[in-house]
Amino acid sequence: MKAVVMKEVGGTDVMEFVDRPEPVARPAHVVVEVAAAGVNFMDIGVRQGMAWTDIPNPKVLGVEGAGRVLAVGDGTGEFAVGDRVAWVYAPGSYAQRQSIPAASLVKIPDTVDDRTAASTMMQGLTASHFATDFYPVQPGDIALVHAAAGGVGLLLTQIIRLRGGRVIGRVSSEDKVAIARKAGAEHVIVDTDGRFADEVLRLTGGEGVNVVYDGSGPKTFKGSIEALRRSGTFCWYGPVLGGPGPLEIMNLPKSIKIGYATFMDHIHTRELLLDRTKQLFDWIEDGSITVTIGETYRLADAAGAHAAMASRATTGKLLLIP
Ligand SMILES: NC(=O)c1ccc[n+]([C@@H]2O[C@H](COP(=O)([O-])OP(=O)(O)OC[C@H]3O[C@@H](n4cnc5c(N)ncnc54)[C@H](OP(=O)(O)O)[C@@H]3O)[C@@H](O)[C@H]2O)c1
Repeated sequence: MKAVVMKEVGGTDVMEFVDRPEPVARPAHVVVEVAAAGVNFMDIGVRQGMAWTDIPNPKVLGVEGAGRVLAVGDGTGEFAVGDRVAWVYAPGSYAQRQSIPAASLVKIPDTVDDRTAASTMMQGLTASHFATDFYPVQPGDIALVHAAAGGVGLLLTQIIRLRGGRVIGRVSSEDKVAIARKAGAEHVIVDTDGRFADEVLRLTGGEGVNVVYDGSGPKTFKGSIEALRRSGTFCWYGPVLGGPGPLEIMNLPKSIKIGYATFMDHIHTRELLLDRTKQLFDWIEDGSITVTIGETYRLADAAGAHAAMASRATTGKLLLIP
């Protein structure tokens, strides 16, 4: 079968479209025909040697997708051949077929198509955690959402709106404004220099926002702090794009709450995985949220998808279609 591997740590040139052995259904594992694989910043981080270094190279990239069960190993009673399933945090999804621990799989409802399901796992679960657990948005709250036209940003904006919150978005170019607005952002600031805080304060009558969601790298950190109101919450989440460096706690505004929200810590049990994906699929089914697929790429063009994502040109979810 065909797959995309990284032969070593590096740029997109280390990605190769190669033949790999067919996966077999080991105990507690299921072999899946991949219908769509999600592209995530995390994959760029893996390629750059920031994560999953314990898996030897060459390794198949990708951690998210949706498809159909081809074979089941012992101890996977919940799943049968033919089931439509989705997964996240299972390495090796940039492939035609993948062996996945059954514990990482969820069944996809009939009303949700494969591409939508594949687009929902990482970014949807991340966004739902941010707005419902990390900072449970209350009616009337104002949130600042960075990269508001990206995969996380579009879903996060809709979930905040669903909870009665209001959204100020920040994007890097004018062409992303309409996309962020369509998802429910009331105001969208275009900025790449970290100079958005004054505009946020102006839009909020000098008060600032209740919560900032920032996964956009070191440049936005200072402005995000300045955009917070008294006792505001800073949800930081961007390990691949980089952190602010060492912080002196006594130099931070008093009484703010600041934390690093990570996917694996909030979806850390099977019950949580099932519960939170059900919530997302229900929202998709009843039209409460819409998943936007910005671009699909052939599996062989995974390097092109990585380059596009890093160039800040993309919106919504990027998928690879094997
Ligand atoms: N902590 C967690 O659990 C978790 C889970 C998922 C993702 N993440 C993080 O969330 C962020 C978004 O990742 P994603 O895969 O979900 O994709 P995404 O939401 O689609 O984000 C892509 C957006 O990031 C912005 N961006 C791209 N390159 C950038 C750069 N060099 N500097 C600043 N901003 C840049 C762009 O928005 P603009 O050009 O409009 O700024 C782009 O639209 C990443 O930092 C990723 O590590 C964290």
